Amino acid sequence: MTTTPMFELGWRGGATEARLHRRRPGGDALPWGTLDLARYSADQAIEARRIWSNGVFTEYASAAAFSSLATAMLQCGAPVDLIAACADIVVDELFHVELSARLTMELGGATPLAFDLDKIAPLTSPGARPVMRAAEIAITTSCVGESLSVPAIERSRALVREPLVRAVLDRLLADEGQHARLGFWFLDWANDQLTDDERAHLAQLAIDTVEVYAPLWQEPEADGDCDAVLGGHDEAGRQALRDAVERSIARPLERYGIALDAARVATLVAHGT
Ligand SMILES: [Fe+2]
Ligand SMILES: [Fe+2]
Repeated sequence: MTTTPMFELGWRGGATEARLHRRRPGGDALPWGTLDLARYSADQAIEARRIWSNGVFTEYASAAAFSSLATAMLQCGAPVDLIAACADIVVDELFHVELSARLTMELGGATPLAFDLDKIAPLTSPGARPVMRAAEIAITTSCVGESLSVPAIERSRALVREPLVRAVLDRLLADEGQHARLGFWFLDWANDQLTDDERAHLAQLAIDTVEVYAPLWQEPEADGDCDAVLGGHDEAGRQALRDAVERSIARPLERYGIALDAARVATLVAHGT
């Protein structure tokens, strides 16, 4: 019997840690050591550990996705400064991994998460040419994924009361806006090279990806107050995500001739679904 390995992080320290912290300063200045877990119930603490353990994994997966995007951009000859921005976002995400992991430790440690890292990089359509491989990852990772993560983090930031958690969320938010723009910057350059069929394929991919995220705004109200440690998804947060589907994904993509199926968008963002 094969078992899926557990997701675990390594840290080298020394010269590589120093290099990362020179490139991304300020992490040590966050109010580490100020969380008083005695103020929270056992359920709240375990929920916080679960959500932030998952957050660490999400940041790590984002690093893999932008890394794959940087490689695909190199393979299709995208503008060098655009590729550099993409590769630099990989470092942003790894810094987010560090901050989220440190916060998870202060919350009492990670909860187990089984994942085969061999499967961490995003898949692209078999046989796709390089510019389409890059376009597919740009859309799923940046135009859709990061466009939804901005309002999700903003809402958590508005709800949360713990200074340390607020400080970590502030640091993440400071970077995420550009992460959501990178995909559109790529389309500015690539769009003339795409055929109508390829744009139709990208539109399909975009709405399929939105559907994967839809449980974030479709999930039923959580009962009780589980917001005290880390924010969470209240109705205002869910509405912000629905709005972002139209405002930050469907409308901007339409400007590139990547038109999402309007009926599917309407169904996905409808209330009570
Ligand atoms: Fe991030
Ligand atoms: Fe990001």
